[in-house]
Amino acid sequence: MKIEFNNVGYSYQSGHQALHDINLCFEGDQSVAIIGQNGAGKTTLAKQLNGILRPTQGSLTIDGTEISERTTAQWSKRVGYVFQNPDDQLFLETVREEFAFGPRNLGVDEATIDSRIDKVAALTGLQGKLDVHPADLSPTEKKFCGIGAVIMMDPDAVVFDEPTCGQDYVGDVRLHDLIAELKREGKLCIAISHDMKFVAANFDRVVVMCQGEVLLDGTPQEVFSQVDVLRKSYVTPPPITRVAQGVGLGKTVLTVPQFVETLEETRAGLVPLLKTSAINNNHYEIVGHGGQSSMTQRKNKGNECQ
Ligand SMILES: Nc1ncnc2c1ncn2[C@@H]1O[C@H](COP(=O)(O)OP(=O)(O)OP(=O)(O)O)[C@@H](O)[C@H]1O
Ligand SMILES: [Mg+2]
Repeated sequence: MKIEFNNVGYSYQSGHQALHDINLCFEGDQSVAIIGQNGAGKTTLAKQLNGILRPTQGSLTIDGTEISERTTAQWSKRVGYVFQNPDDQLFLETVREEFAFGPRNLGVDEATIDSRIDKVAALTGLQGKLDVHPADLSPTEKKFCGIGAVIMMDPDAVVFDEPTCGQDYVGDVRLHDLIAELKREGKLCIAISHDMKFVAANFDRVVVMCQGEVLLDGTPQEVFSQVDVLRKSYVTPPPITRVAQGVGLGKTVLTVPQFVETLEETRAGLVPLLKTSAINNNHYEIVGHGGQSSMTQRKNKGNECQ
């Protein structure tokens, strides 16, 4: 699957332009996090991915077909969209009915639906809740019910709007495993998130939005090393990354094990130490060889498809 944005702009009926000249390409089994401050345009961008919203400027293609050539219901078979608020999505009497609804509409046979329900119930932790009314689920369970209902349609891409919102630790672990499973199955996973720890732990690529534009696009290491640029979009890197930046480690780390490893490399003289001229402001000066990522601010460049 390949989704391409070519100079996409989007204006709401109120006249507010929420997206400006977006050039992006998502393809294959990538896992992509979209981050940025409130109102940056993340949801507006994500809703273009299966035609819930359509570009008002430029063009968007899915595997080469213009989005305008099919209905959102038709695209939803290929690109599943999990809403931020499950109440916007769930409307049936039981979790089982929610799970069966999408594939049944697509004409999938009942035996396949039953076997998918078993698999998706295990992935979402809802095995014991299949006959429960969604309104009686906990907030975390409801969120997983919405995710399960989308995965049941076996789309090539899954878009999550704030999947971690209101989730507990068990929910976080389950979501991590679920995304890993989708990646194993070769699906494109795109998630909007404000949770930088979740982003660093689960995604290969991070797109930073600011005022309706793409500000940065790169690996988590590349993006989270751009402290000054990130500040413009009010994004702060994950806590362990900031600690490493604060003490002046010469590599961008995303996890505690990476922090420990880099600290040991620094002690052995393999990684340079950065002189922090103003820790609170995160301004760095490199002492010795090596240094930070070469990625620079990405603005209105051509899209990244190969
Ligand atoms: N239905 C709408 N009509 C008019 N303007 C809207 C509408 N929905 C969103 N906007 C505006 O478009 C801009 C982008 O909104 P969007 O919801 O895409 O941001 P976001 O990055 O998802 O924010 P958040 O992190 O708060 O969810 C904001 O200025 C918002 O106020
Ligand atoms: Mg949003």
